[in-house]
Amino acid sequence: MKTPYSQKVIEHFLNPRNAGKIENPDAKASEGSPACGDMVRVYLKVNPQTLVIEDIKFESFGCASNIATASMATEMVKGKTLEEAKKISWKDVVDALGGLPPVKVHCAVLAVDAIKRAIENYEHTHGILKEKKPTDKEVIRERLEHVIDPAAGMDVIRVGTVKDYEIKDGVVTVYLNIPAQRDFASHIKEEIEETLSPLWDVKEVRVIFSSRD
Ligand code: FES
Repeated sequence: MKTPYSQKVIEHFLNPRNAGKIENPDAKASEGSPACGDMVRVYLKVNPQTLVIEDIKFESFGCASNIATASMATEMVKGKTLEEAKKISWKDVVDALGGLPPVKVHCAVLAVDAIKRAIENYEHTHGILKEKKPTDKEVIRERLEHVIDPAAGMDVIRVGTVKDYEIKDGVVTVYLNIPAQRDFASHIKEEIEETLSPLWDVKEVRVIFSSRD
């Protein structure tokens, strides 16, 4: 049967490199795709002296292309410094895989964005940011736009799961439109805490559920 996937994509999908989880990672990040509602999580171990990525693992909750691109992208950045790793684009990864069908390119973007976000989180939590932009509503919104509400398969801003959010004295409060008993409520809370707490000037993240059903 003819497949739209290259041999390399199929090989990486069937035998993904670096799949799994790192316990006590130096940084991690989850990225949800606004295009399809899937998500990928990346864990990093970084040498604090050389800033070389010594280990990297991923968990994919996406499609075959997502698994293959996360596998290839993690292979490409492993052993590189954070600065070198940041330069790798989704296009480099797609090229290394021998191409992807155009409708699947966002799966590669997702994998690469997750790695970049994990690197960014490392820089935030280890005080090596080049530019210390204060966290404001725009920064919060940008991060929340990558948190997926699995019940809707869309990000929590677009689908209206998040009602409002604010930052005051380093405390971010996110008000949700859903009660704590709703399906995936605790998952969404964890994802929101995970994406906002690495920010360098954020001391605490509070997620408030709605009181009514
Ligand atoms: Fe969602 Fe590939 S990651 S379709």
